[in-house]
Amino acid sequence: MKEVKKYLDANQKRFLDELLDLLRIPSISADPAYKNDVAKMAEATAKHLRQAGLEKVEVQATAGHPIVYGEKMVDPNAPTVLVYGHYDVQPPDPLELWKNPPFEPVVKKTKLHPKGAIFARGSCDDKGQFFMHVKALEAMVANNALPCNVKVMIEGEEEVGSKHLEQFCKANKKKLACDVVLISDTSIISNDTPSLTVGLRGLAYLQVEVTGPNKDLHSGVYGGAVANPINVLCDMVASLHDKKKRVTVKGFYDDVETLSKKERKRLNEAPFDEKTYKKDLGVNGLMGEDGYTTIERTGIRPTLDLNGIWGGYTGEGAKTVLPSKAFAKISMRLVAHQDPKKIEKQFQKHFESLAPKSVTVKVTALHGGHPVVIPTNSVEYKAAEKAMENAFGKKPLPQRGGGSIPIVAMFDQVLDARSVLMGFGLDSDDIHSPNEHYGLFNFYKGIETIPYFYQYYAAMKKSKKA
Ligand code: BES
Ligand code: MN
Ligand code: MN
Repeated sequence: MKEVKKYLDANQKRFLDELLDLLRIPSISADPAYKNDVAKMAEATAKHLRQAGLEKVEVQATAGHPIVYGEKMVDPNAPTVLVYGHYDVQPPDPLELWKNPPFEPVVKKTKLHPKGAIFARGSCDDKGQFFMHVKALEAMVANNALPCNVKVMIEGEEEVGSKHLEQFCKANKKKLACDVVLISDTSIISNDTPSLTVGLRGLAYLQVEVTGPNKDLHSGVYGGAVANPINVLCDMVASLHDKKKRVTVKGFYDDVETLSKKERKRLNEAPFDEKTYKKDLGVNGLMGEDGYTTIERTGIRPTLDLNGIWGGYTGEGAKTVLPSKAFAKISMRLVAHQDPKKIEKQFQKHFESLAPKSVTVKVTALHGGHPVVIPTNSVEYKAAEKAMENAFGKKPLPQRGGGSIPIVAMFDQVLDARSVLMGFGLDSDDIHSPNEHYGLFNFYKGIETIPYFYQYYAAMKKSKKA
């Protein structure tokens, strides 16, 4: 392990330069105009896997964007780790709010990142994080210090719902067979409070369309007599929360896991400063479900949010129009043990029941995913805990993340494999936002932590077998 650490220290500058090159490729999975860049990013990822010493590296085409795969089998008796990550990124808009162009990375110091942070789309989510694994593997392979078999799978459709990954996993069960899945695509509490993610929220994402008259109308000639679908949509969506900010969709809370007082107390022991939280977001007050703290509102409670709403005239100046249609995109974050399909149906039924006679509504499900809760008494959790403790000098706290990684539940089902969510980002790294960044401290600390995980995991599995 000493050799590995030495190798990592000696190559820090090159690792950073290589990551910066990857960040220059605009691999935006949502926008078909970037299909070639996504393909280029897949090839670049494959090249790095080969250079790290992985074998059988391939860029597997799918009906969408390709999946990159590579492996290194060192010992049939050693446990096998499947590393998962994603090389695709979110669209960078609104562009005008970026201080540097999103695909021209810049390293700058910030208050939270006094050693510097890389500003670019994908720096934290997830290029900077999956690349830590590639470099850690390179170091272990180069120093003959890889104690586990490793399979690496980096996909290009995570930000658009991992549409083709499930099929790939089902078709390649044997190839992907593993003892544990290792993922760095989440956050730690802060750089001096390391944490491991033990919960992710699920997701049900829908679009609604409200139609009034069969064409746009003059808002003077018809206004007041014919239902305006935008007005109606606003009424409908406003009624989706009650005064206590609970979601009113019938049956929404039926399956929600209730945590014991003790569990809630433990969750709230994580450091959280409401004042800084508000200041960082530029808000004077917070808002959420009555009776729950901010940590609970994002970690253990389900939510409903509008992600976009449109209709009618939104151009320059005024146009007097009573539009025919209004639309909204609505996401619900789910917690254990809510089922996204069931919630979709409940939402659809509820939303249709809200519509007055004067309009028709259409509800379309766009994508979804199951929530996950990860136990803290497994071998893999203990190994990750020890690895982080070794690197940070502090035992990591278990933390429930508010975001979603739908494939974690899929790995559980299809590959019968449990995941370790050992991410190194900060919630304040502005993923999906302008000026996304990733701390150099976090990047290097992650690369340092990963080899410890392999070491402890191999040793702990071996001693369990013996
Ligand atoms: N890496 C994020 C998820 C995440 C971020 C989890 C921070 C926990 C902490 C992932 O890339 C993501 O953005 N997922 C999407 C879901 C997907 C179906 C588009 C999300 O959470 O919105
Ligand atoms: Mn991600
Ligand atoms: Mn993301």
